[in-house]
Amino acid sequence: MADRKILIVEDDKVAAKELTTRLSIPGFAIAQTAAKKPKIGVIGGGNIGGTIGGLWVKAGYEVFFSSRHPEELKPLTDKLGPLAKGGTVGEALDFGEVILIAVPYKAIPDLAKEYGPKFAGKIVVDPANAVARRDGEELLKETKEKGIGNTTESYLKGSHVVRAFNSMSYTNFVKEAHRAGDRMAIPIAGDDARAVQVASQLVRDAGFEPVAVPLARAQEFAQGGPIYGQQLTAKELRERFGLTK
Ligand SMILES: NC(=O)c1ccc[n+]([C@@H]2O[C@H](COP(=O)([O-])OP(=O)(O)OC[C@H]3O[C@@H](n4cnc5c(N)ncnc54)[C@H](OP(=O)(O)O)[C@@H]3O)[C@@H](O)[C@H]2O)c1
Repeated sequence: MADRKILIVEDDKVAAKELTTRLSIPGFAIAQTAAKKPKIGVIGGGNIGGTIGGLWVKAGYEVFFSSRHPEELKPLTDKLGPLAKGGTVGEALDFGEVILIAVPYKAIPDLAKEYGPKFAGKIVVDPANAVARRDGEELLKETKEKGIGNTTESYLKGSHVVRAFNSMSYTNFVKEAHRAGDRMAIPIAGDDARAVQVASQLVRDAGFEPVAVPLARAQEFAQGGPIYGQQLTAKELRERFGLTK
């Protein structure tokens, strides 16, 4: 019996070592399911924040929702149950290893001014679209010139931005999450391997299939880009991106 116990402990050590090794290799997203789920801070509890944050709560993630009016988030967090909490933006940033910035694009420079250092080292999942009438011509121009993902990363210094969940209406995310058959593909873009790996698992756990490209290619599925608004399977999306695997 004692021998068996030692054997199990040794097996656990081997498994833990293997897991650590696998986690450091991009593409081994499956390993994350066995590891502890990252805590998530959501900035913005509207259509996108509420929908995607809600899908993560349903998948067992702890999610801290925030906005400039945290008292208004109570109906959302009450509905989602004990894994969902609500509070200020600063609290969400302190809570989350991953931050979903579900805000109008013009709020990003404001968040950078107010909370800049808190973004350093975070994985930022960015679904925000730049729209001229809401966010201003100048900011839209900047996103087109630098690329929208690179623009977000240039404001939120030290963060690892992954563009995701921006290319379709939240109503599609509500309707198609965890659908039977081929899952709906979500284009994502990022340059940091671990951030892309974590975001990919979050897309899967929300009920979709991620297809990843480098951050600069986020323009292809930004508003006005050829992949914006397209409901595709992962195979179709990989073909559209010209990816071989
Ligand atoms: N709706 C869609 O179907 C959809 C689809 C794809 C992408 N997107 C993009 O996702 C983003 C969010 O869209 P949405 O439809 O979810 O908007 P929404 O329903 O209007 O919600 C926006 C949220 O952001 C918060 N907010 C605004 N400014 C803020 C600031 N400076 N600091 C902190 N929180 C702030 C708002 O709360 P307070 O005002 O109380 O702070 C609100 O909770 C936008 O960039 C949009 O283009 C939307």
